Amino acid sequence: MLIIDPAGPGWRFTGNELRYLAEVLNNGFSAGADGSMNERAETLFAQTMGLSHAIGFNSGTSTLHAALVAMGVGPGDEVIVPALSPAMCGFTPFHAGGRAVVADVDRDTFLMDPSDVARRITDRTRVIMAVHLYGQVCDMDALMDLAARHGLTVLEDCAQCYLGTDARGRVGGTIGDAGSWSFENSKHLSCGEGGMIGCDNPALAESIRKFGGLGFRNLTASSGKVRVDRDKLQDPDWARHDRRGYNYRLGGLPAAVALAQIERMRSFIDLRIAMGTAFRAVLERSTLLRPQATPEGAVNSHYTFAARFDGVDHGIAWQAFRRVFAANGGDGIYAAWKPIHKEPAFRDTDLADEQRPVTEWLQGRLMQFTTNQRDDSERKTQVEALIATLRHFGDDA
Ligand SMILES: Cc1ncc(COP(=O)(O)O)c(C=O)c1O
Repeated sequence: MLIIDPAGPGWRFTGNELRYLAEVLNNGFSAGADGSMNERAETLFAQTMGLSHAIGFNSGTSTLHAALVAMGVGPGDEVIVPALSPAMCGFTPFHAGGRAVVADVDRDTFLMDPSDVARRITDRTRVIMAVHLYGQVCDMDALMDLAARHGLTVLEDCAQCYLGTDARGRVGGTIGDAGSWSFENSKHLSCGEGGMIGCDNPALAESIRKFGGLGFRNLTASSGKVRVDRDKLQDPDWARHDRRGYNYRLGGLPAAVALAQIERMRSFIDLRIAMGTAFRAVLERSTLLRPQATPEGAVNSHYTFAARFDGVDHGIAWQAFRRVFAANGGDGIYAAWKPIHKEPAFRDTDLADEQRPVTEWLQGRLMQFTTNQRDDSERKTQVEALIATLRHFGDDA
């Protein structure tokens, strides 16, 4: 019998994953007694987030692409994205036929700065993509206010933010017009590759599902079923597609793993928050590392623990700190992605000539610490490594 080894990386998949995978295979990929895995995963995800509709996708990039198209982005249209963000946030406006415009970020929260977003709005702007980096919700009051004043749509990218809340207790992904999540392997929940997009607007949900589901006419906001009526489907006169679309569907096997992961969503988030909180406590008085600023009352879901390394102002190299942390048993420190406009992939666009001073200053300083430790003992190792590293560099935080 196939078993999962909880002592290795398999520890994350010790819920109902194998049971649901077997169900999919035993049903020959057709719906089981209680609906297809996709349907079950979508229903549970929507309930957990407090949204009316959720649609499974094969990645958290395809979700963004489909949402932008469904939001009406096309040739000549602009989507404002944070300059500090994974490149996918910059790619997808181009995939939709429009273009990305980068906004600068805040030096303390590391998130999209609404005052710079305001400066970037033109009569071609259609969508603001609010990216809740590292697990923390952007300043949604300010972004929603801008959107309302200029008639824009807001897409929340929550690939890194599961049940993070703003200071008013609102869940990231439920504040704007749609929220997008990723199940890629490094995320809070994973099925290897996958994603989910959710919203409360049935017309938008249907349009997103159709774009990602090959434009089959039977698809609706809440149903991914392509074959509804055999008599119709087997009729030579039946036209199947009322739109052109991509095949971005989440497969039955990843959906099975996703469902089992969604069932345990809270526990995965709590583990990450526990690691983030422990790192933050160590850095309370640090002069070298300044944690991502989280507004009073907000909950950072800590996809990673992000901090600004001000040690460079004290003559300590970023790489030197990373090496000592690793030598002390630390799990490694990831650098932030290059600013979107600095990635060679955009060299043939006018993004290549842009400058965003805060992002460019901050990006080389950011340190992203892992938060996917499974228990207290693993967290203790990381905390001790950080304390020892700070001491090594004369910071008795
Ligand atoms: C902020 C952000 N947006 C989008 C994505 C894209 O998700 P995926 O890798 O599932 O395509 C990722 C992650 O990889 C991400 O971190």
